[in-house]
Amino acid sequence: MNYCLFTPVAIGQVIVPNRLVRSATHDYLADDRTGTITPAQLELYRRLAEGQVGLIITGHAYIHLSGKASPRQIAVDDDSRIPGLSQLTRVVHQTGSGSLIFLQISHAGRQTRPGLCGQQPVAPSSVYDPVSKIRPRELSSEEIIKVIDWFVRAAARARQAGFDGVQLHAGHGYLLSSFISPHTNRRSDDWGGNWEKRSRIIREIISGIRSTCGPDFPVIIKMNATDHLPGGLTLEEARDIAVSLEKAGLAAIEISGGMNEASLGSVWPGLRKEEEEGYFVPLAAQIKKAVCIPVIGLGGIRTLRVAESLVASGQVDLVSMSRPFINNPGLVREFRSGRLDKSPCLSCNKCFNPRGIRCVHGQTAGSASQD
Ligand SMILES: Cc1cc2nc3c(=O)[nH]c(=O)nc-3n(C[C@H](O)[C@H](O)[C@H](O)COP(=O)(O)O)c2cc1C
Ligand code: SF4
Repeated sequence: MNYCLFTPVAIGQVIVPNRLVRSATHDYLADDRTGTITPAQLELYRRLAEGQVGLIITGHAYIHLSGKASPRQIAVDDDSRIPGLSQLTRVVHQTGSGSLIFLQISHAGRQTRPGLCGQQPVAPSSVYDPVSKIRPRELSSEEIIKVIDWFVRAAARARQAGFDGVQLHAGHGYLLSSFISPHTNRRSDDWGGNWEKRSRIIREIISGIRSTCGPDFPVIIKMNATDHLPGGLTLEEARDIAVSLEKAGLAAIEISGGMNEASLGSVWPGLRKEEEEGYFVPLAAQIKKAVCIPVIGLGGIRTLRVAESLVASGQVDLVSMSRPFINNPGLVREFRSGRLDKSPCLSCNKCFNPRGIRCVHGQTAGSASQD
């Protein structure tokens, strides 16, 4: 069978060799004190590249300590991180598989705690987070300009370190997501109000990265199309935002949803029937109708024929997965060779482990064990 999934696709000016993406996955494997890349991460990313993933998106990397979300998270907040990040891109490119690697750059906003980020968490508005039990401090306009600069500098470091592009994390309630959500952004200045003002920060970041890194360095985004919260972001607004980001030079868009305080997050537990795989794909398909850039669909995709049909039917251009690659970094190779037609991942979520993600059903993310 000739699979659409295994055909190349352009994202901006780079060519992704196939339509299978490793969605950003924080692996809890970076050095806890400095956020530097560790040998366990080099091993994990080598296995993903040898496993022929078309596009590997790293776990979220913090652009400034005030935006650190989690222990053992990758840092891209300083030039001193560039040598470690360069090792990571080298390990991927040296496999010769053609896999590309993008750095996901992020600021946690209000979804962190002072013990991690060294200060009272910040957000567009001082809206209490019942999960972290934090009331964040509202950013001033001057501070928003600084945040934009941190994102631009982080992207420049990523380019210097050899990444093929960057992904802005604007999902799951983190800072950029909290800007576009009317639930968390209650500002009445130029950075809040209607969808255009709430998303201005992202357009400024895209334009800053394009003028610093050049238009040939792709900037993509992972963005909520729903917060799963009353008073949160709606699909209609997400679609208008996506169109405006495309005009600003965005190269591709991955659609997700949920935030910490929502009833439904982004990592849904439990196995689903084949026809229910791709739980964010219906939203992605709506966004795809409004934009020309590639759209990446995700959420519980486990089965080769489902992934193929989502792309072949034109609902999305690429599909991404996270947990199946924790279970088996070599999954794409197994799909291509016909050895597997479905990921054995059970979506049990037992892989979250602050000492390093691992599949409790056999595979260990950073180990040298067999795929
Ligand atoms: C251990 C773990 C870490 C994750 N880290 C990130 C992250 O750093 N950035 C991000 O955008 N999403 C992150 N996610 C969400 C996934 O990228 C993905 O959106 C979600 O798991 C749904 O896809 P799946 O059903 O294929 O796992 C993480 C998910 C898991 C399981
Ligand atoms: S522990 Fe293993 S089977 Fe369970 S969700 Fe994580 S990767 Fe999948």
